[in-house]
Amino acid sequence: MMDLHLKGQTVAVIGAARGIGRAIAEGFVAEGCQVHGFDFNVQAGPAEGMRGLHQGDVASLEQVRAFADTLAEVDHVIFCVGVGSGKFGFPFWNLEPSDWSRVLEVNLIGAVNVAHTFAPKLISRGKGSMLFLVSVAGQIGSQTDPPYSASKAGLINFTQCAAKDLGPYNVRVNALSPGMVKTELNQSIWAAGQARLPEAQRQSFDDWAAEKIRKVSHLGRWQMPEEYAAMACFLASDHAKNITGQTINIDGGQVMR
Ligand SMILES: NC(=O)c1ccc[n+]([C@@H]2O[C@H](COP(=O)([O-])OP(=O)(O)OC[C@H]3O[C@@H](n4cnc5c(N)ncnc54)[C@H](O)[C@@H]3O)[C@@H](O)[C@H]2O)c1
Repeated sequence: MMDLHLKGQTVAVIGAARGIGRAIAEGFVAEGCQVHGFDFNVQAGPAEGMRGLHQGDVASLEQVRAFADTLAEVDHVIFCVGVGSGKFGFPFWNLEPSDWSRVLEVNLIGAVNVAHTFAPKLISRGKGSMLFLVSVAGQIGSQTDPPYSASKAGLINFTQCAAKDLGPYNVRVNALSPGMVKTELNQSIWAAGQARLPEAQRQSFDDWAAEKIRKVSHLGRWQMPEEYAAMACFLASDHAKNITGQTINIDGGQVMR
C-alpha cells in the first residue's frame, strides 16, 4: 500500500455532509487527518472520525470566514459543493437569466470565497493544497444545465489562475472532474428532465441513468464517491508535489484530451 504520509494533517472539506464531499472527508479520516467539515445542511451530522461539521453557506464570505476562524491551521482545503438550477437546460431559453445567479453564486463565487479565505493561511505556512470539484459539464459545453456548466468552466479556469498565483508559495491547486457519480445530485438532474416529458416518455431513475452511462462512459459504469476520496488524498500528498493547475478527470473516459 502507498503511504501518503498525511497523518496528523488538517483538512477542511467544504460540502462535507453528503455525497462526494462526505466520502472525501471519510477518506482523509482514514489517512489519520483531522477533518473539519462545512455544509449548508448539517442534519446528517459529521461522518465518523471527523472533528465537526460547521453550518454555513459558501455564497456568504462572512460564513466561510467564521468557519476558517475556528481552525488554528489548515493543510488542505477541498471544495465539494455544487448545485444545479433545478431546471432542464436545453434549449438554454428554457431557463430565465435570473436562474443563473444562485448557481454561479454557490458554485463559482462560493469557491472564490473559500480560496480568498484560506489562501493566506496556506501561504503563511508555505505549503498545502486546494482542490475544487468541477465537472465534465464544464469541459464539454453540456446543455443539461447551462449555468451549472458555465460555473464549472469558470472554476476550472480559476483553478489555473490560483495555481499560478500560489505556486511560488509551494501551495498547489487542482480540480477534480467527475462524470456520473451515484449521489443525490444526479437524482435532481433526472427529476428536472423528467418533469418536462409527457408521461409516456418518462423513465425510472435507474433506466435513465443506465442509458446515460451507456452513452457517455467508455467503461460503461457509474463512478463511486470513494474514487474521488482516493484521488483527493493522493493529490494532497507529497507524491503529487509537482501536480498543480490540473483538471483530473475521473469519468470513465467521458472527457479525453
Ligand atoms: N454526482 C455527480 O455525478 C457529479 C458529476 C459531476 C460533478 N459533480 C460535482 O461534484 C461535487 C459533489 O457532488 P455530489 O454529487 O456529492 O453533490 P451532493 O449534492 O450530493 O453534495 C453537495 C453538498 O454540498 C452542500 N451544499 C450545497 N449548497 C451549499 C452551499 N450553498 N453552502 C454549503 N454547502 C452547500 C450540500 O448540502 C451537500 O452536502 C459538486 O461540485 C458537483 O457539482 C458531481
